[in-house]
Amino acid sequence: MKKRNFAKPLSENTHLLRWVEKMVALCKPANLHWVDGSKAEYDALCAQMVAGGTFIKLNSKLWPNCYHARSDPGDVARVEDRTYICSLSKEAAGPTNNWVNPYEMRKKLRNLFAGCMAGRTMYVLPYSMGPVGGPMSQIGVQLTDSPYVVVNMRIMARIGLPVFAEIDKGEKRVVPCMHSVGAPLKPGAKDVPWPCNADKYIVHFPETREIWSYGSGYGGNALLGKKCFALRIASNLARDEGWMAEHMLILGVEDPKGEKTYVAAAFPSACGKTNFAMLIPPAAFKKKGWKVWTVGDDIAWIKPNAEGKLHAINPEAGFFGVAPGTSAKTNPNAMATLARNTIFTNTALTPDGGVWWEGMTDAPPAECLDWQGRKWTPAIGRATGAKAAHPNSRFTAPASQCPSIDPDWEKPEGVPLSAIIFGGRRAATIPLIYQAFNWSSGVYMGATMGSEMTAAAAGTLGKVRRDPFAMLPFCGYHMGDYFHHWIMMQKQLSATPRIFHVNWFRKDADGKFVWAGFSENMRILKWIVDRARGRTVAEETPIGWMPRYEDIDWTGLDFPKVKWDQIMAFDRGAWRQEVMGHEELFLDLHDRLPKELIFERELLICRM
Ligand code: GTP
Ligand code: SPV
Ligand code: MN
Repeated sequence: MKKRNFAKPLSENTHLLRWVEKMVALCKPANLHWVDGSKAEYDALCAQMVAGGTFIKLNSKLWPNCYHARSDPGDVARVEDRTYICSLSKEAAGPTNNWVNPYEMRKKLRNLFAGCMAGRTMYVLPYSMGPVGGPMSQIGVQLTDSPYVVVNMRIMARIGLPVFAEIDKGEKRVVPCMHSVGAPLKPGAKDVPWPCNADKYIVHFPETREIWSYGSGYGGNALLGKKCFALRIASNLARDEGWMAEHMLILGVEDPKGEKTYVAAAFPSACGKTNFAMLIPPAAFKKKGWKVWTVGDDIAWIKPNAEGKLHAINPEAGFFGVAPGTSAKTNPNAMATLARNTIFTNTALTPDGGVWWEGMTDAPPAECLDWQGRKWTPAIGRATGAKAAHPNSRFTAPASQCPSIDPDWEKPEGVPLSAIIFGGRRAATIPLIYQAFNWSSGVYMGATMGSEMTAAAAGTLGKVRRDPFAMLPFCGYHMGDYFHHWIMMQKQLSATPRIFHVNWFRKDADGKFVWAGFSENMRILKWIVDRARGRTVAEETPIGWMPRYEDIDWTGLDFPKVKWDQIMAFDRGAWRQEVMGHEELFLDLHDRLPKELIFERELLICRM
């Protein structure tokens, strides 16, 4: 077979060609590679990374077509303090985003990117968020010097020739995305397995719909279709065009009659979206005919259709999931999904050429290499507290391999949404489940979400922070305006989805989770679906509607009423504190806070 000439453009779009030319002149790469998205290209890039030490090919008997990568220890998660929304005015970005004057930032970026790809290949990577050509889909082109990013993006998004063809039609605006690991190579210099730069910039220009990412090769910092485009830029598009870009999973619940009810759920990073999206009902529910179908695990684009009913698509094509805690017991669907054609980053490596992470099996391997490639044994772990896998280690796996993937998951117009669920990781105060009274009280519920911080971002673990709609790190404009957009969406709707709040993570006095979670969450999900379809009653409380003990189907689980009372407890004293926490966030946003939310807060205080 004749070798492809990678430098030969795969598009005829003059805007694209001119932009690539300009960026080549700026970044000065040694080579140019137009990405066609083929399997052959993927395999060749993986082989090249194996040769270069970035990838280790796993034992193909155990893990067919899987690879393992170790990142630089300083490049393991999103860097929120280095993430910028550079709108023309600081006011438009709002107090919850970092802002630098776009003129200053462009100057800064021009300097950083000048010659930054020396000695490397620049990949021209076209991608579609959502099915190629779909009415809700959007297109980006990422110029990157990271082959790791290219192969991950092939799993996470639709890439390559069909996207170039879409671009060549010239009908859709293309979001330009610049990405460099920020590690130019001097002539003859040897590369490192994970090139990156201590100085990191994840920059968004909302008005010109541009993304510039420098210094990191990891996750949401570098796979620019995900958080940068599908949330930060898309939230701007959505506000302007009357739809919603949300940090939400989407799932379908099939009931014993065969009726399907779709729900979306916003939980902050590492708070259970992937697990909930792939839920397998407990045996007793399965027997009755309940089944959960997966549409997406991280991002939802939601739009009213012509009849005023919300429909949602998952703009992604893969899962970039948290590895630790994922097991055949907690999430068999994820384990099946990641069994082949998967890239593992920062997990441990076992002597038989496999991967391992905390929680994958009851017993840890007798010996393995930890996420930094050092020898790890359970004894070393006990003595030093060192984890074998990094807490934010992840798998990149194709959504199509998920056993519970919904037959309609790629439907270009999306699936109809009947309920929206908010949730966070809260050891105290927040009950297992309650329902908002209506749309505006539901918006208040989302706006005041709190959660304990996780390893998904650099920061203080375990501290409760306000994370409105799980969008604090992802909203590309003023959070107050975003609340307003949520309130205003109701006017476009003929039927509003019901809104709920869950907390799987409440702990007892000994610090243990009271609720078993995972598949048991089906019992709560059933109540949610029943409520959304008007099939069940609820009890009114100051914070919302709640199920009584007897409203939940307990078949096959011994969960005594005393525990229920513990996990559903509404404590006035604790809620006083909670509402003070809401106020703290509202103070920051006061000048753009919708009046509806101020009224909702007053009403809540009155009820309490
Ligand atoms: P991002 O990909 O960062 O957006 O995270 P996510 O929201 O998809 O979180 P994920 O489902 O990967 O879960 C993160 C962690 O929470 C894992 O360690 C899970 O084991 C744990 N977890 C998920 N669901 C439950 C649950 O119902 N109960 C308990 N106790 N833990 C859970
Ligand atoms: C998150 O942090 O919410 C993620 C992982 O889903 S990342 O893609 O790195 O943002
Ligand atoms: Mn996420």
